[in-house]
Amino acid sequence: MGAGAVSYHRCLDRGVVVWLTGLPGSGKTTIASRLAEMLRMEGFRVEVLDGDWARRTVSEGAGFTREERIRHLRRIAWIARLLARNGVIVLCSFVSPYREARSMVRGIVEEEGIPFLEIYVKASLEEVIRRDPKGLYRKALKGEIKNFTGVTDPYEPPEKPELVLDTESNPVEDNVAKLYRLVKSTLETQ
Ligand code: PPS
Ligand code: MG
Repeated sequence: MGAGAVSYHRCLDRGVVVWLTGLPGSGKTTIASRLAEMLRMEGFRVEVLDGDWARRTVSEGAGFTREERIRHLRRIAWIARLLARNGVIVLCSFVSPYREARSMVRGIVEEEGIPFLEIYVKASLEEVIRRDPKGLYRKALKGEIKNFTGVTDPYEPPEKPELVLDTESNPVEDNVAKLYRLVKSTLETQ
């Protein structure tokens, strides 16, 4: 057991699926992993399903065409559904750029009676290009990556997300705290 971990579990009948969407480099992974840490400290069972992880494992070989992204996200939604129906809090961090795909994943989760929270991790294109943590925007802008979200592929912002987290104007701790409160209140009202 890692430092600070707890030795008991809080057993939820049903978990929740928290779906973080946003441009590459917007801060989805950071928020999901910090929130996971906080919830685990309280004894909740938490899984983080992240784009980079999924593309090395369950979606190995998936590309970035519309069809490939949708197939990949459908697979993730089913994994999230199975975990959440067994009491796990599932934090999904995926660019998931298309409204249609996000509505599909919501449908898969809600069909099981599991709450689904769509979280828009918001940062402007100028800001994520400035951050460029993996150097991918630089490559995409030089024409070296096809279908790159924000550059040569669209990002459709959510129209009615459960929460917007602005990572350009607000510090990460504030965003994590806001999301923590939403998750806790969702679990309490289940
Ligand atoms: S998607 O759209 O939901 O299927 O994407 P996802 O599985 O989250 O994977 C996105 C991460 O892969 C990197 N990457 C790309 N993103 C978007 N478009 C293209 N063409 C692409 N190629 C590689 C990118 O860095 C994403 O990581 P994050 O952590 O989101 O920045
Ligand atoms: Mg990431």
